[in-house]
Amino acid sequence: MSFLVSDPWKIIQKGFSSEENRFFESLMSSGNGRMGLRGNHEEDYSGDSLKGTYVAGVYYPDKTRVGWWKIGYPEYFAKVLNAIDFIGIRVIINGEVVDLAKCNFTDYYRELDMKESVLRRSFVFIGKDGSEFEIKTERFLSYADPDLAAIKYSVKSLSKDAEVTFIPFLNGDVRNEDANYDEKFWEYVSSGHEKKSAYVCMKTRKTDFNVSAAFCYNFPAILNSSEPVTDRNGEFVGFRLNSSVKKNGTLTLEKYVAVISDRYYNASEIAKISLEKAENAALTGYDTLFDSHRDKWNEIWHMGDITIEGDVLAQQGIRFNIYQLNCTYSGDDPELNIGPKGFTGEKYGGSTYWDTEAYCMYFYLETRKPDIAKNLLQYRYNHLEKAKENARKLGMKGALYPMVTMNGEECHNEWEITFEEIHRNCAITYAIKNYTDYTQDESYLVEKGIDILVETSRFWVSRAQYNPRKDVVMILGVTGPNEYENNVNNNWYTNRMVKWNFDYTIEILSMMKEKYPDLHASAVKRLNLTDEEIETFKFYSDKMYLPEDSELGIFLQQDGYLDKELLTVSDLSPEDLPLNKNWSWDRILRSCFIKQADVLQGLWFLNDQYSLDVKERNFDFYEPKTVHESSLSPCVHSIIAAEIGRIEKAYQLYLRTARLDLDNYNKDTDDGLHITSMAGTYMSIVHGFGGMRIKEGRLYLSPRLPEAWAGYSFRLMFRGRLIKVIVSKNEVSLILEEGEPVDILLFDREIVLKPGEEHKFKF
Ligand code: BGC
Repeated sequence: MSFLVSDPWKIIQKGFSSEENRFFESLMSSGNGRMGLRGNHEEDYSGDSLKGTYVAGVYYPDKTRVGWWKIGYPEYFAKVLNAIDFIGIRVIINGEVVDLAKCNFTDYYRELDMKESVLRRSFVFIGKDGSEFEIKTERFLSYADPDLAAIKYSVKSLSKDAEVTFIPFLNGDVRNEDANYDEKFWEYVSSGHEKKSAYVCMKTRKTDFNVSAAFCYNFPAILNSSEPVTDRNGEFVGFRLNSSVKKNGTLTLEKYVAVISDRYYNASEIAKISLEKAENAALTGYDTLFDSHRDKWNEIWHMGDITIEGDVLAQQGIRFNIYQLNCTYSGDDPELNIGPKGFTGEKYGGSTYWDTEAYCMYFYLETRKPDIAKNLLQYRYNHLEKAKENARKLGMKGALYPMVTMNGEECHNEWEITFEEIHRNCAITYAIKNYTDYTQDESYLVEKGIDILVETSRFWVSRAQYNPRKDVVMILGVTGPNEYENNVNNNWYTNRMVKWNFDYTIEILSMMKEKYPDLHASAVKRLNLTDEEIETFKFYSDKMYLPEDSELGIFLQQDGYLDKELLTVSDLSPEDLPLNKNWSWDRILRSCFIKQADVLQGLWFLNDQYSLDVKERNFDFYEPKTVHESSLSPCVHSIIAAEIGRIEKAYQLYLRTARLDLDNYNKDTDDGLHITSMAGTYMSIVHGFGGMRIKEGRLYLSPRLPEAWAGYSFRLMFRGRLIKVIVSKNEVSLILEEGEPVDILLFDREIVLKPGEEHKFKF
């Protein structure tokens, strides 16, 4: 049996069982924004395992497999690739291969130290003759140089002298579990050995991404023999290092790895560069490389940490979320983005969803310097032409961003999502507003964002329709964020956000006319924009139909929602849940049960436009009908619950998100982690309990403390300031740690935060 130990900074596994191997492999995942690894073992493991080594931005277009082809479907689903296995070290002790699925061992211990981002492991291997060996491993993916990884592997002989063989290797002969046609996605390019280093270069089929992994070893022991090893037609290269160890002696192998792709270097040079980098890393040495890696993580934690007093499980949970988000996206490359599973599994193909703008954006805006969030915006700007093509493909004008994408092309092929879950456009435009409000940097908005605003508005004009009989604009045949209703008419969230999209476009155009006349003039020219078209945007906004029920005082999720049998989740039996595993799709669609925040998602985005009463009535109506079968759901509900003063309800909802993967709440951690919903967990603290908003152009905070906690603290990046917020039982304390003085609102009080001064307020 293995179990997870609570600790504020570490994910600790004690004991090992093969049944739980995938679960712990997911939890022990780590990354540095450029590459990521599941917690696979370095030495052989013949038991059940999901091998996962991922190189950011390297994908394969797996040909679509679908029962009934519909016009507009994408040709392929992009897949993040299980790439060259570079952690491998075969270990043979007295002729016996160390393989935890086959050999005897005790005292298995593994920890993912999130503070320093290092994975450590130890166990005692017991040979067939009963002799014991203590094995210790340690590895990290450098945050300081994201092309590098380093591994230390040591064997200490506890019982007697022994013969030990290490075969550090690279293996390019790897496959994805998720492959539509069982194909291998990689083909061999070249491989080779130098004195103490080797490389393998592989190329993806169809997309032609070239990736070279190289390693160089340090093995400061007397070698009985050493020889290069090549296997699998060159796809496997390594060194066989034979040595002897005395009783109580230790052999330590260091493996320095460089992974280089032609996304950053010329394909003809990557083999050479990877070899050089690995060799230089070996010269630099483990400790020095580790020091600069740790310094980077210190910076990340300094800005982005959340502390929770009096609840170690909650503390571990939130740090795990923050840690994994930073492993997934480091923000230095606008061609990269955040897949729902990050570098922790194959599900969702590693592609970009609306999750990035609707959830992750807040996290990166608040915990990192603005250029990181700006790169996320740039990603969508780079894809604008593809979004226009996508709209054209569906017979529309303007731009429709894809639901799922790697390079701007749509990858999703279920009609109800591909063609109908079009609200995604609005999360993308809303992120432009968010970035601008948080940073007061208008450059992206007025130079690039404006094109996205206009093109998405054009899409909405062509997709919505004016109904002259009722004198309203309607949007028919959509799927809202609640994917448990398809092809509905007038989903309130979609209609409301589209109205917002029009209004914001008009507002920014008129702001630009005043403030940036030259940029305005060139945008008008570039976009072929006429006053008449702006009038049309205004007309569509003014006439937008927003379904509501005045008797119940709620917005209607869609036109037909109240015709359904209105039950609540408490009417269901435990065997019904989760619905998506127990009910037919047709039954789900006809039911009133809601997968994830829908009306409430709109009340969250357009938070300052609605009163507490409105939020309360909609929360009370929709929350009891929500099954939260998307990991993105509880956080939004938690934020609204906190806002309307239901702190304990907010806390219960928070608990569903905070340790979702650690406690395997949805029984699917084996597949990988829910990376994008981790941003939602972060939001439930900062925006939920912390009450952070931007109100009247100022930072607003209204912190509350859940009963279970003695206190919590976080820092916020806001308009060039770093503000520390500390909340305890009856006091809030605010410190401006970096930047110029700033006016903020704490509840309804106006405060000027000045550098170095601590402002304390009693509840
Ligand atoms: C959710 C979507 C989300 C996707 C990826 C789905 O289950 O319903 O809103 O974008 O997962 O996280």
